Amino acid sequence: MPERISPANRVTGEICLPGDKSISHRYAMLASIAEGESLIHNYSTGADCHSTLGCIGALGIRADDRGTKVAIYGKGLEGLTAPAADLDAGNSGSTIRMLSGILAAQPFTTRIGGDESLSRRPMERIMTPLGQMGALIMAREGRFPPLEIRGAELMPIDYTLPVPSAQVKSCVLFAGLYTNGATTVRESVRSRDHTEIALREFGAEIRVERHVITLQGRPRLTGRELFVPSDLSSAAFFIVGALLVPNSRLILRGVGINPTRSTLLDVLVSMGANIQILNVEQQNGELAGQILVKYSRIRGGVIEKETTAALIDEIPVLAVLGAASDEGLEVRDAGELRIKETDRIATIAENLRRMGIKAMVSADGISIPGRQQFHAAELDSFGDHRIAMAFSIASLVADGPCEVQGAEAASVSLPAFYGILRQVTA
Ligand code: S3P
Repeated sequence: MPERISPANRVTGEICLPGDKSISHRYAMLASIAEGESLIHNYSTGADCHSTLGCIGALGIRADDRGTKVAIYGKGLEGLTAPAADLDAGNSGSTIRMLSGILAAQPFTTRIGGDESLSRRPMERIMTPLGQMGALIMAREGRFPPLEIRGAELMPIDYTLPVPSAQVKSCVLFAGLYTNGATTVRESVRSRDHTEIALREFGAEIRVERHVITLQGRPRLTGRELFVPSDLSSAAFFIVGALLVPNSRLILRGVGINPTRSTLLDVLVSMGANIQILNVEQQNGELAGQILVKYSRIRGGVIEKETTAALIDEIPVLAVLGAASDEGLEVRDAGELRIKETDRIATIAENLRRMGIKAMVSADGISIPGRQQFHAAELDSFGDHRIAMAFSIASLVADGPCEVQGAEAASVSLPAFYGILRQVTA
């Protein structure tokens, strides 16, 4: 379904976005293997997190989905039952990769797959450590979904992540819950730590020393009441919208600002963005705050190394901002972008090209000169939620109305995106 987006005069108002996708997945998965009821407030409205709920339900766990309030009746570590059919992770890499850690320890075999995009995403990154722990996993062509996971009695491992990936880290830690011993995960770059925080909230014993995480197996996890902060990666689109459109002033309430996620804000501020964070509070170990953002002149610059890894999901919208910045934006060390929901280096470059924006791409990066004018164009999400939203934001500063084909992809993380966009640009 296409969306038509007209240039905006300003981005204003006060919004409260739905719950964080990463945190919602983790709370749902852990609640399903905890003992007793968990009540999760402000659960993500995105299709991805509902794929997780669907999988949990198919594994015999009751999950009552009451809008953004989700009640999950966990039956403990041994409480899952063999699903009657293949599990469907939809478009969600987080669902298939993280849940596989739990499935690998079950006394039954599970098949789990997803949509066309997910079926192209590499899974050997989880197959390798889970194999070392003793699970047997079969994949299409040895690396793609669907996966057939033959659960086994798992052994703890000491695993160094070859690529910075919170999904892989979480997968190994979830599998480690089922071992008799201590599982260690070492990362070269600190990836988002929602799993470590959530595990602690549910009662697991977990130690984090710099980049080394150690989890004691077989903890007693107990159901809890939890509150999910708003999703900073969703907020990123509106933050960039406000930075781009003159006269903008936008307040985003209750946004998750966990330091392993908020690199985006640091980078924007370092490039001249007028962003203030107010009323910071902590809920279930996660920080949340109110973000005030005003139209700003953005300098641009280079994003590389661990900074790239820390804001990988925000690069599509940062690329848009880069084209309007003074010095342009160069993104390096972003090979991971090529294996997201789409090859994002390619889909960003293609949409920029359609808008008349010059960009140079390499195997693992993109460089976009600054001070460019966005031209009205027919854009395409290519079925990727973040591409749909990033280029809808670009459309706000085009020289005429744009059309975004496949805009419904936004529902993967933020079904309300277009409604909120209309509200803040009205
Ligand atoms: C996520 C981790 C990141 C991120 C994804 C969500 C998570 O992926 O891109 O959108 O919730 O753990 P990787 O683990 O592949 O880096």
